[in-house]
Amino acid sequence: MSAKTSRIPGFYKLDINERVRKVAEFAGLSEEETKLLMNFGNLDPKTAEIMIENVIGAMSYPMAVAVNFLVNRKDYLVPMVIEETSVVAAASHAAKLTRESGGIYAKATDPVMIAQIQVVNVRDPFYKKMIILEHKKELMKIADEQDPILVKFGGGARDIEVRVLDSPKGPMLVVHLLVDVRDAMGANAINRMAEAVAPYIEDLTGGKVYLRIISNLADRRLVRAWTTVKKDVLGGEDVVDGIVYAWAFAAADPYRAATHNKGIMNGVVAVALATAQDHRAIEAGAHAYAARSGRYMPLSVWEKNENGDLVGSLEMPMAVGIVGGATKVHPIARIALKILGIKTANELAEVMGAVGLAQNLAALRALATEGISRGHMELHARNLAVMAGATGELVDKVAEKMIKEGDISFKRAQELVEQFLSEKTKH
Ligand code: MEV
Repeated sequence: MSAKTSRIPGFYKLDINERVRKVAEFAGLSEEETKLLMNFGNLDPKTAEIMIENVIGAMSYPMAVAVNFLVNRKDYLVPMVIEETSVVAAASHAAKLTRESGGIYAKATDPVMIAQIQVVNVRDPFYKKMIILEHKKELMKIADEQDPILVKFGGGARDIEVRVLDSPKGPMLVVHLLVDVRDAMGANAINRMAEAVAPYIEDLTGGKVYLRIISNLADRRLVRAWTTVKKDVLGGEDVVDGIVYAWAFAAADPYRAATHNKGIMNGVVAVALATAQDHRAIEAGAHAYAARSGRYMPLSVWEKNENGDLVGSLEMPMAVGIVGGATKVHPIARIALKILGIKTANELAEVMGAVGLAQNLAALRALATEGISRGHMELHARNLAVMAGATGELVDKVAEKMIKEGDISFKRAQELVEQFLSEKTKH
């Protein structure tokens, strides 16, 4: 028998059935497993193949909606796709806490993305910086010519900036092309523009251009979100203090800040997945922005105001689109956008900023009070109860009993369900 090899020439040309057959052979998948793999659910195989290469199936994640969100005085049901329990419940709970004081407010800046053009072998980079800036208009015109539709919709090149970097390979000129991409995420448009202006920049500088690509540190496309939560709604001033201390911990310690921001990203990424955004771009931007001062910091701030109430704010890049890309192609992403009822990419960015802030609030409130495990434990217990056949009121009864006994297991859930049901039939 020949050794297994991952070298499969023309794999991409095979149809899905053939690909799956090869994978099944390679990995020893059973018939049942291959069948499950090829159950595309709500994603048509043809659409899957438009999205990526070498498709062998689709993987479903649960999609939920977070409730209670009031953002800029408008109610939203927020679709979220995530594998982690408690995130959706936590977001909904935190959103409810903010409602009494008007919900969450959020504002996105103009959707300006940055493309970088790297120029090397420039003997006099500071002088050439002036020359490039002198030709700003021409460069921006070339950029605009690449996307007349974007320009028609009010977008297009906005500015050119030039930096001289001191790199391990010596000085380097880096040109930033700033483009308002309107309702697009914008990567394709600005990459094309960067490629188009590159030869002109080479002419102007006599240097050699290598990279022409988007920067995911989208610090010209920010969302800001803020909210007030009354101390009584939170359970008193002590809880407010606990949350402010939690934030201060993150502000003083990158080990904590990473987890603090992870909590924010739980919400942001879940909405990004539901609406088929490039969530890696959003994550890269968030973490790079958090470290922009040279030290990794929390993306949000929590303070106590003059009334003793909690006030929170968040600022982060939010490169999202509602036209083009997977958002356009994936039918569930379209439905998610419809559930959100948003009209522009900026509105989506604002909702996502609000969700990030709410998610952070939920986590800090739990951490500063009963701890995070309780909520997780309750949900886990309820899930086990459902798996064991409990329905209606019985779900809570079984879950509560297991928590009380300190035995949260499927076996115990089964025993309790049986016990409760037989008691019920006796009465
Ligand atoms: C868990 O997914 C997220 C938290 O760890 C966030 C935090 O600690 O702030 C709860």
